Amino acid sequence: MIKLEKIKDKLKLKLNEEDDDRYLHSLRTQDMALEIVLKNKINIDLEKVKLAALIHDYCKNVSKEEFLEVIKKHHLDLEFYHKTNYKIWHALLAPYIIEEELGIKDQEILNAVKYHTTGYEKMSDLDFIIYLADLTEEGRPYKEAGLLRKLAFKDYKKAAVLTAYYQMQVLKKRQMEIHPYTLAMYNNYKYLLKEDNLEELLKVKDVLEGIKLNNIKIYDVRGSTPLYDYAIVATASSSRQMQAVPLHLKKEPNLEIRGVEGPGDSSWVLVDLGAIIVHVFSKEQRELYALDQIWEDLPRLLEDEVK
Ligand SMILES: [Fe+2]
Ligand SMILES: [Fe+2]
Repeated sequence: MIKLEKIKDKLKLKLNEEDDDRYLHSLRTQDMALEIVLKNKINIDLEKVKLAALIHDYCKNVSKEEFLEVIKKHHLDLEFYHKTNYKIWHALLAPYIIEEELGIKDQEILNAVKYHTTGYEKMSDLDFIIYLADLTEEGRPYKEAGLLRKLAFKDYKKAAVLTAYYQMQVLKKRQMEIHPYTLAMYNNYKYLLKEDNLEELLKVKDVLEGIKLNNIKIYDVRGSTPLYDYAIVATASSSRQMQAVPLHLKKEPNLEIRGVEGPGDSSWVLVDLGAIIVHVFSKEQRELYALDQIWEDLPRLLEDEVK
């Protein structure tokens, strides 16, 4: 096996002295990848995991000119790459450069590097681990990272698909194109989210965030009631916002509303979505009902308060 220390030196050089952050990100990705393997008890060659995680961003600072040379040298489809966001080239084109410069020929490692940004329709364990570790390592600042990190240690495949979902939401919001590999990955594996109604849950969360409700909390109530899997609590600051909740949820084709309750004023509304129950209160009513206190010890799915 290739010596990791030598690879680290080469990686540092390749990433440039100024890009210390990227080198540290590579190390953190390696730590995260190993933790995913250990906590999920995945039966896999740890040396391969370490190496793939370490070098996943080896080509992050390669220039466009250099990439174009690689495309030319290996007779690759230039049009395909021009259609692909340039930011993804460092992953898709990495295997050619890594094989040449680091002498790594292991196809499993090269594939994990290749698909670390986009995912792929059919992913190996190593592909899943590297994809997930890259996006959930300790230094990742986006607000869902905490939740994904927790899930990564319990069910890495599910966490990876959920990560893809978040990535796609971000791209949609920024009106950026979603890579066909990511879409294929999501479509092929989204059934994993169905088991736990996670897809619906995220949809509901999006809708509530869209109406700009405050302090959205998602409680996993599976251990405490047979009636629902998840309870969502949120605060509305006006009656208009309150009334918008069932109206907007009804517009979602994949959500089935089984019942709506509430006095019709601005104090609270309850929406029954089958496995998910949504409670929206005014600030005062939320304090009065104190569901957050009752469910204080339950697992929470959203760490951040959405303001
Ligand atoms: Fe990357
Ligand atoms: Fe990365």
